[in-house]
Amino acid sequence: MRILFTGGSGKAGRHVVPYLLDRGHRVVNLDLAPLDDARVDNLNADITDSGQVFNAMTAYAGFDELEPGTGVPRFDAVVHFAAIPRILLRPDNETFRINTLGTYNVIEAAVKLGIRKVIFASSETTYGICFADGERKPEYLPVDEAHPTVPEDSYGMSKVVNEATARSFQRRSGFDIYGLRINNVIEPQDYARDFPRYFEAPELRRRNFFAYIDARDLGQAVDRCLSTDGLGFEVFNIANDDHSVNLTTDELIEQFYPDVPVRRAMGRHESFYSNAKARQMLGFAEEHNWRHHVADPRA
Ligand SMILES: NC(=O)c1ccc[n+]([C@@H]2O[C@H](COP(=O)([O-])OP(=O)(O)OC[C@H]3O[C@@H](n4cnc5c(N)ncnc54)[C@H](O)[C@@H]3O)[C@@H](O)[C@H]2O)c1
Repeated sequence: MRILFTGGSGKAGRHVVPYLLDRGHRVVNLDLAPLDDARVDNLNADITDSGQVFNAMTAYAGFDELEPGTGVPRFDAVVHFAAIPRILLRPDNETFRINTLGTYNVIEAAVKLGIRKVIFASSETTYGICFADGERKPEYLPVDEAHPTVPEDSYGMSKVVNEATARSFQRRSGFDIYGLRINNVIEPQDYARDFPRYFEAPELRRRNFFAYIDARDLGQAVDRCLSTDGLGFEVFNIANDDHSVNLTTDELIEQFYPDVPVRRAMGRHESFYSNAKARQMLGFAEEHNWRHHVADPRA
């Protein structure tokens, strides 16, 4: 597929874009900074400027596309990751403005240009735990996509607004627009550096529901969205199958969630951040469980 990818130079994109390139897709990376990969076409543009976004979606990807003499090819899909990725990087109002306006511009342009598949980065923070003032607990476990989304912070709010924006554009167009409620992204080098700390102090992972998503497995989730048609508007929790700490599910419940209802029997290490919907509807199947990358001192 010919894909316009926004934010491909960031922490997640620099793994997701190569994953898509490896599978034969052509990718134009719309970002304020380039991605250093000879196979990608970089375009410096700002998602908060609607004119730039429409222009990018109707542009040649590279000089080679001038050769056939048949005009500008259409994009088959848009993957939208560009954002301010958390609170405390920019003033709260700027985080909200850039994320909501940027997402409006990207989805509006895609829909009006007839690009029938849009995948956008939402977030675990929509559930309101990650950036809460003090400790908030999930209303029930495991957390699935039906869990209330009432965050208190500007970043989480922007992602809830983006899901509403996407749902409305999907209703108008009938196209496929899928939101990925991505958990904490882990890059390959993070396992050796960070996971031993998480084993020592599991409370470091409380605000992420103790979950994680390997950046390459996130690439797979995006690729599954590209190849799964006809779902309309959907949101998916995106996480690996297990917790990011080396305690069992029962031990974590006893320590951190003794008063939280557990709605179904859970596996021995099963993540509280349920990826069941992505597995069932997209065929997502993790390849990078942390146990492949760092030793469990309890094993
Ligand atoms: N990293 C995580 O753990 C995590 C978790 C959940 C959701 N997400 C979401 O996933 C997406 C990617 O996150 P990330 O961690 O790679 O973030 P990042 O900050 O590393 O990358 C974001 C990219 O977007 C670009 N960008 C920012 N503003 C832009 C603008 N106005 N116009 C064009 N490009 C712009 C940046 O240059 C950067 O390359 C974001 O939407 C983020 O909210 C990330």
